[in-house]
Amino acid sequence: MDVPWWRDAIVYEIYVRSFSDASGDGVGDLAGVRARLPYLRDLGVDAVWLTPFYTSPMADGGYDVADYRDVDPLFGTLGDFEALVADAHGLGLRVIVDIVPNHSSDRHPWFRAGLRERYVFREGGETPPNNWQSTFGGPAWTRVADGQWYLHLFAPGQPDFNWRDPAVHAEFLDILRFWLDRGVDGFRIDVAMGLYKAEGLPDVEDQSFAAVSPVWGQPEVHEVYRQWRKVLDSYPGERMAVGEVWTDDPVDLARYVRPDELQQSFNFAWLQAPWSAEAFRKVIDDTLATVPFATWVLSNHDVVRHRTRYEVGAPGAGLNRAKAAFLTMLMLPGSTYLYQGEELGLPEVEDLPPEARQDPVFFQSGGKLPGRDGCRVPLPWTAVGASLGFSPDGARPWLPQPPAFAQLSAEAQTGHPASTLEFYRRALALRRDLVRSLPYTLEWMDSPPGALFFTRGPVTCVLNCGSDSVSLPSHESVLMASGPFEDGLLPPGTAAWLRRR
Ligand code: GLC
Repeated sequence: MDVPWWRDAIVYEIYVRSFSDASGDGVGDLAGVRARLPYLRDLGVDAVWLTPFYTSPMADGGYDVADYRDVDPLFGTLGDFEALVADAHGLGLRVIVDIVPNHSSDRHPWFRAGLRERYVFREGGETPPNNWQSTFGGPAWTRVADGQWYLHLFAPGQPDFNWRDPAVHAEFLDILRFWLDRGVDGFRIDVAMGLYKAEGLPDVEDQSFAAVSPVWGQPEVHEVYRQWRKVLDSYPGERMAVGEVWTDDPVDLARYVRPDELQQSFNFAWLQAPWSAEAFRKVIDDTLATVPFATWVLSNHDVVRHRTRYEVGAPGAGLNRAKAAFLTMLMLPGSTYLYQGEELGLPEVEDLPPEARQDPVFFQSGGKLPGRDGCRVPLPWTAVGASLGFSPDGARPWLPQPPAFAQLSAEAQTGHPASTLEFYRRALALRRDLVRSLPYTLEWMDSPPGALFFTRGPVTCVLNCGSDSVSLPSHESVLMASGPFEDGLLPPGTAAWLRRR
């Protein structure tokens, strides 16, 4: 049977602003990404996902797009993008780009030209047309000079499109083709459960990001992805799309992943699960029972880095747990999305000074929420230098790097077998060798309380989330472990791959 490339792929998320800066302005860019592609090839990933690099006033780090068919000068030029794709393909890496269909920038030509039917404008009085709140804080409506209000589920600089207008459909089909013609292998769809809002825009009681409500997850959105799938399938080379779908319900998630819709959706239940064998097992079971093609993710540019999340209630345990969760995730059926810097074991930077913060979440919450800057601090490439190799010498990175990043830099870790980076490289290389022998299913084995044991083909994966060491199931040899065993037992916060007898 032919397996599409994305089914078991390891995809590496590049938050372009914070990956590598070639131009020297302190902000990451496409030329910076291009220069580091050999690092990603050596790390052992199959594809990269680039966050938005399109023309943008940067009200939300580029998720506010003013021109969907061009590159912002901050990030380079279309020529830089084409060179990046050519180099990536030459190294055997696929390229996924972000597409932002729920909203544009308020600097988009349609919004500037006052094409109100393409956005969600309503008459209102002194108060907004309904009680919807922005995901970033404050009302989801902003009033314009003539008294009308427009909807923005995120920042005021991100007006929501009106997907009930056919012009919006035609525009996005054309944007997809624009990038497919430039050789992209797929799209990551921003806020994929958005786009449509319930007719009449009724007030809501619960507007959490993950709920199916008048705000999110309208059934009409699926027809959009059916159209998009036809476009993807009209190109050679298994072009794909992965949806950013926040939902509490695996059945709802599966609605986006259908033979005539998206190939994949992010599985945020995995990232939201606490450090618990029971919780992990439930997510794995729910996912495999409902979604035909599973994905796994622990961190991204919107959430607290998992090394730091796993410290909750267990100070000092975060890195070991993060490595164990990674090893376990790699052995699950499906595809894995990594976030830049997790291979270095980077923690969340929690103590950024308020004056350094840039995320609209911080400002729209009146400083009550720290926002997402802590997982977006520019990567440390070298152990010394003003920006730890992120920018050419002399430039200051757009967010300050903490001193602890120096010893976590790629340079400081390379060649040290005990480092997180070398552990990631070994695990990814071994998985690449094994992946063809792994069936797309797993079988649970009996395991002691607090632990998870499962088998896939020739491999048994063991994970200990408990507080006591546990005995290993019978095996022929140890293929890989996230930490040392103690007297032959699997310590807390450790995972391993065993060759079955
Ligand atoms: C998605 C992005 C996030 C952005 C939001 C609005 O959730 O991942 O970074 O702020 O959409 O576009």
